[in-house]
Amino acid sequence: MKDAAPRPVRLAEYAPFSHVVETVTLAFDLHPSATRVRSRIAFRPNPDGPSGPLRLDGEKLTLISAAIDGTPVAPRVDPTGLEVDTPDAPFVWECEVEIDPSANTELDGLYISNGMFCTQCEAEGFRKITYYPDRPDVMAPFSVRVNSDLPVRLSNGNPGDSDADWAEWHDPHPKPSYLFALVAGDLVAHSDCFKTMEGRDVALNIWVRPGDEDRCGYAMDALKRSMRWDEEKYGRAYDLDVFNVVAVDDFNMGAMENKGLNIFNARYVLASPETATDGDYARIEAIIAHEYFHNWTGNRITCRDWFQLCLKEGLTVFRDQQFSGDERSHAVKRIEDVQMLRARQFREDAGPLAHPVRPESYIEINNFYTATIYEKGAEVIGMLKRLVGDESYDRALALYFDRHDGQACTIEDWLTVFEDATGRDLSQFKLWYSQAGTPRVTVDSRVADGTLTLHLRQEVPATPGQPDKAPQVIPVVVGAIARDGREVLPSTLVELTEAHQTASFDIGTDDAVASVLRGFSAPVILRHDLDNADRALLLAHDTDPFNKWEAGRALAKDALMRMITDGAAPDPAYLSGLAPVLTDDTLDHSFRAMVLGLPSDDDMAQGLADAGQVPDPAAIAAARDRMQKARAAELKDPLSDLYGGLANLSPYAPDAAQAGRRALRNTALGLLSRLDGGTLARAQFDAADNMTDSLGALLPLVQIGAADDALAAFHDRWQDDRLVLDKWFSVQVSAAPADLALDAAEALVDHPAFDWKNPNRFRAVIGALGMNHAAFHDASGRGYALVSQWLCKLDPVNPQTTARMTTLFETWRRYDADRQDMIREALERIRAVPNLSRDSTEMVERILC
Ligand code: ARG
Ligand code: ZN
Repeated sequence: MKDAAPRPVRLAEYAPFSHVVETVTLAFDLHPSATRVRSRIAFRPNPDGPSGPLRLDGEKLTLISAAIDGTPVAPRVDPTGLEVDTPDAPFVWECEVEIDPSANTELDGLYISNGMFCTQCEAEGFRKITYYPDRPDVMAPFSVRVNSDLPVRLSNGNPGDSDADWAEWHDPHPKPSYLFALVAGDLVAHSDCFKTMEGRDVALNIWVRPGDEDRCGYAMDALKRSMRWDEEKYGRAYDLDVFNVVAVDDFNMGAMENKGLNIFNARYVLASPETATDGDYARIEAIIAHEYFHNWTGNRITCRDWFQLCLKEGLTVFRDQQFSGDERSHAVKRIEDVQMLRARQFREDAGPLAHPVRPESYIEINNFYTATIYEKGAEVIGMLKRLVGDESYDRALALYFDRHDGQACTIEDWLTVFEDATGRDLSQFKLWYSQAGTPRVTVDSRVADGTLTLHLRQEVPATPGQPDKAPQVIPVVVGAIARDGREVLPSTLVELTEAHQTASFDIGTDDAVASVLRGFSAPVILRHDLDNADRALLLAHDTDPFNKWEAGRALAKDALMRMITDGAAPDPAYLSGLAPVLTDDTLDHSFRAMVLGLPSDDDMAQGLADAGQVPDPAAIAAARDRMQKARAAELKDPLSDLYGGLANLSPYAPDAAQAGRRALRNTALGLLSRLDGGTLARAQFDAADNMTDSLGALLPLVQIGAADDALAAFHDRWQDDRLVLDKWFSVQVSAAPADLALDAAEALVDHPAFDWKNPNRFRAVIGALGMNHAAFHDASGRGYALVSQWLCKLDPVNPQTTARMTTLFETWRRYDADRQDMIREALERIRAVPNLSRDSTEMVERILC
């Protein structure tokens, strides 16, 4: 029998904690299956909190003893915590518990990965380590003693004394329990140092398994650049004597910003040219920066409660995006970020899981580490900056750090800072935090008498629980390009605040095209009445790199749409517009590679659904295939020239310039492979001396179904390298034609190296299948069956990763009745798993709703 449905947690019911924690002292006797944790916590009643007994969170703990001010007590223990009567004055709580890290397969709390002890406490993992008020508004300094003779013992803060079988750590900065971390194992460090602008010498260490120490150089370089950047751009310096980063093989998410001890999924730390692609390097740089930036936006200023998660995540994503733009290319970074936003967040916002950037209730908070909180949360910061201006943004941020350092804050605190710094009323802007759904902005443009007139309309669609929406503040950056290619209106901000609004600009010509939503100035779906000739003009001449790219994407999407729905031939005007961009040497290589990209199959399915049609996954894949062949044939000569001309990049460097050249060259290879059956790709594969070129050749071979030998060779070479082997698993499932991908996935789950309890490996097969639109949605139902079967199997072992992967089914209402039936059945199968986790139960129920 299932337990009664768990009660949702509601923002409206927030109350401060009954007590204040003054200090926390922890001692760990590490043992794989019987670790003892002793805690000594100084409490005092909170004058601003409710009175009553002390309630501490605790899960999967065996209580050994408890005492208050030295006198043993007998707390009332239940499966989620304990309650105990306490004096109405300051007191010391002491408690000993036993936990079993070796049984912790959920990778939440204290667990063991490849013989190494490590922790993950965000959001609510600390309660699996000891009894504690496990909520972010309870902040305290921590002292930790690790009793273990393992060679390396780490915790937060600065190191204290140590000996062969113990080590002490002290973190002077008050922190919530979700930032606690402990690591112990046989690790080696790649070390360096950094002098802060305040003159503090900081020891930097990246801790990895022996043998991986020569793959840490890039992460270390990215860390030092991040530290310098945060000083220069935000005036924020690091605040401890050491900064430790640990790479862990088994990890549910990307990484975690624990104070002074960041813990990373190894795939976002380890890189060498032979094993990591340019994309891997860029992700490592971004995630190292993200976790480091959390030290100020997250750790020094944290969240009052988990509803405020975007306060730290949206802002920190925004900051890491700024950093990557500064280090690489703003134009390219913006396009990549928008692609991601559309692929993940717009998709989420369009389906049953849509929720506001600040949700109002949850059952399992781990289910809300979403693209909406992170990516839309970052877009909201970007809009705020655009509306108030760069200089006001800087002043507001300085005030934010000054006013709220050491506090646990809310979105109200954040917006009040901006109101105080700028005098602007942000009450309408605040709707971005409370209204879910992607706003639709419709623009009609008219040019007459030397004037450009824009009629703008906005509409925020209904989402679960939110049938009616009010108009939002939408910053729409506009420009205009004359038919002869001149820019006749430089970028200008229009603040759309009404449901209908008109804006006029003197442009001195009657023959021009408006360029709307430049830089993707707001996370909205734009419907602008441009025809393909207008788009071709913008593709050729827009000075805004985002809209230049966007014009190409719109042309491609329109052409694909007509191929899918009317069986049209690839649009010759689209095809002929590509060559000039491809060969324009004033454009950087990665930009040109992106112009050659096509909207994904999932994008096309969403586009069809938006147009009121039922997407046929096989027809979408077939249209893409025809389009690729047509583009290859049309562009054969310039592609061959580019391919030849961009060769010989050595020595390999993971910088943006080289990465752009390889991206364009490999994009050319992908297209040329449609013509030569893979001869050129196979030659590149055999000759490649770096992973970008190796995978860049393997990918088209897989796409055209000619990869058997190359895959075998790749496996032989890399079978002992877990991160590279993940790529081998995933490429043959994510990129192959539907039937081959399904055959591969069904075979790979029986492969001896399919270590399904490792989240990276699980995602490399099951996640990859979910990302292959045509295979996952194959009419046979094989895709749905395999994914749901494995999610059923994973749930008892790792509920967090299972719940996250149920989102593969979130788009089910787009499809035809047969597919809907099959998906509903697949979800029902998951729902029927005995004792299904709270995580997956919440997700399946929301998706089916
Ligand atoms: N705060 C981490 C980051 O964004 C993510 C941790 C999420 N963990 C989780 N169990 N939901 O960098
Ligand atoms: Zn984060």
